[in-house]
Amino acid sequence: MNQSKIQKVLSKHSVLESERLILRPFSISDAQDVFEYSSDEQVTRFLSWEPLKHPIQAEKLVKEFLANRAGSYAIELKSVKKCIGGIELSVYPHHKKASVGYILNRKYWNNGYMTEALSLILDFCFRKLKLRSIEANHYEGNNASGRVMKKCGMKFQGMETKVNLNGEHFDVLIYAVSREEWKSQFINSFYNILLLGWRKLNTS
Ligand SMILES: CC(C)(COP(=O)(O)OP(=O)(O)OC[C@H]1O[C@@H](n2cnc3c(N)ncnc32)[C@H](O)[C@@H]1OP(=O)(O)O)[C@@H](O)C(=O)NCCC(=O)NCCS
Repeated sequence: MNQSKIQKVLSKHSVLESERLILRPFSISDAQDVFEYSSDEQVTRFLSWEPLKHPIQAEKLVKEFLANRAGSYAIELKSVKKCIGGIELSVYPHHKKASVGYILNRKYWNNGYMTEALSLILDFCFRKLKLRSIEANHYEGNNASGRVMKKCGMKFQGMETKVNLNGEHFDVLIYAVSREEWKSQFINSFYNILLLGWRKLNTS
């Protein structure tokens, strides 16, 4: 797919939905929610930008960057109708690959939300954008982020050593999943469901 076809598919699928989440374009009404997580030092600890200091910065960020970018999804938690984070997809059509980055409000950590959001994005990348591989990376020490990648079937590829992060130096751990790995994972879980059903039938 070339760049313009990719843009068309991204626009057509600007809203993605899973059991608990809606991934949708950011709007200016999300600015307060964006400020809530982007101003939290613990959330931005392993990100290359400083925590926001003022709500106006969040408004500017949403208006000038997040709301206008195909592939930038607000993560809305259905049960509270609130934007609890964001997930950002950058597609490289020539290489048939993409990279993903994400952020979540600390109040909602460890509920499986980012695993759910990333799985949805991977599914979209392979099924609709027909990409060959998806990459993500995290700084050493950001183990929760690495765990999300592993739970989504991404595999450790290697490391970039001692990258500058706000004056400190950390290794960057690179993860990826290929289209073939994603498919075989999908087939395996389908067979596991069938096997479980078959075992239940035979023991009842
Ligand atoms: C990384 C982040 C998005 C994870 O979101 P989340 O919704 O809490 O992730 P999930 O609940 O789907 O999964 C988190 C997993 O990490 C594990 N985890 C949490 N803290 C951990 C830690 N300090 N060390 C190791 N594992 C940890 C959880 O137990 C869970 O694994 P499990 O399901 O096997 O128990 C969230 O922590 C975040 O926004 N961090 C700040 C921004 C950031 O670092 N973004 C990524 C940049 S690469």
